[in-house]
Amino acid sequence: MPTAADRARIAVLPAGVRTFIADAVEAGGGVLSDAGDAVALVWTETAAAEPLGHVLDDQAGLHWVQLPWAGVEPYVDVIRAHADRTWTCGKGVYAEPVAEHALALALAGMRGLGHYARARSWTGQRGHNLLAARVTIVGGGGIAVSLLRLLEPFGCEVTVVRRNPRAMPGATRVVGGDRLDDALAGAELVVLALPLLPGTAGLIDRRRLDLLAPDACLVNVARGQHVVTADVVDALRDGALGSAGLDVTDPEPLPDGHPLWDLPNAIVTPHTANTQEMALPLLSARITDNVRRWIAGEPLVGSVDPVAGY
Ligand SMILES: NC(=O)c1ccc[n+]([C@@H]2O[C@H](COP(=O)([O-])OP(=O)(O)OC[C@H]3O[C@@H](n4cnc5c(N)ncnc54)[C@H](OP(=O)(O)O)[C@@H]3O)[C@@H](O)[C@H]2O)c1
Repeated sequence: MPTAADRARIAVLPAGVRTFIADAVEAGGGVLSDAGDAVALVWTETAAAEPLGHVLDDQAGLHWVQLPWAGVEPYVDVIRAHADRTWTCGKGVYAEPVAEHALALALAGMRGLGHYARARSWTGQRGHNLLAARVTIVGGGGIAVSLLRLLEPFGCEVTVVRRNPRAMPGATRVVGGDRLDDALAGAELVVLALPLLPGTAGLIDRRRLDLLAPDACLVNVARGQHVVTADVVDALRDGALGSAGLDVTDPEPLPDGHPLWDLPNAIVTPHTANTQEMALPLLSARITDNVRRWIAGEPLVGSVDPVAGY
């Protein structure tokens, strides 16, 4: 059984990429170490899975790996190839700012603010209430928990769809993924807050958009590939979908000239539900907390299940 002093030896790689991460490790009691001497690794690069795989192939003594962001889809193959290690990520870390952004996109979409912001003259009336609306949140993790709390004063009827359904404060009902179509039927607002997995790519297509209430609003703060972009564009154009608030897109970045930029019922934000300024203190706090827990032998926060892939 390694001692607390042994467990404190933590590598931060690639070095020099995000120096605040090394500070966060030290704040948790970690001692910055070379990969060969360390027992744990905090990975600092957001997308580079291949170099991480090489480090782990070479260093069997790295027992715990902390990944930087909430979505781990670029790393899934590496995680599964090294499923004997303990894996954690930033799931839930950014829930508060992302939920706030989802609420902003929902209100903007439902209240027609995209139209009004683009108008150059007095226009006719448009807009729907979020108050008492039928809302479906797909995903029941950190973002959903925060959004449920923010939605509480609006008195919505909220259905949460998640993999392992169980009661959640603020949710009217929580159902499993096999009930997704039922949960979408008649929804006036749909918020996507689930991880990107092979089974969730293209989840929201034209057939599912047609299940929603007339003039419904779709908000995506998860990953662009969850929706079939061309279907969303068509539905926004022909009125089957009332509005969309998209913080994530497919492709991403959304290229200049893409039809979504010109649709007055679409609001696109450039993956900024969680800006760097918001993220850094939150990620620092998570890393410091997990390093402290790791050294003390306590359960870590933000576990990744190699089989489930999130
Ligand atoms: N826009 C941004 O800046 C931003 C920031 C942070 C995160 N994100 C994205 O948002 C995602 C969610 O973040 P989070 O922190 O809330 O993650 P999380 O705490 O890991 O929650 C993920 C939730 O999705 C559920 N889920 C998994 N597969 C599902 C499926 N097929 N259908 C419905 N629900 C499913 C899980 O269900 P169970 O709990 O029942 O297993 C879990 O409740 C991340 O993976 C990331 O892609 C985006």
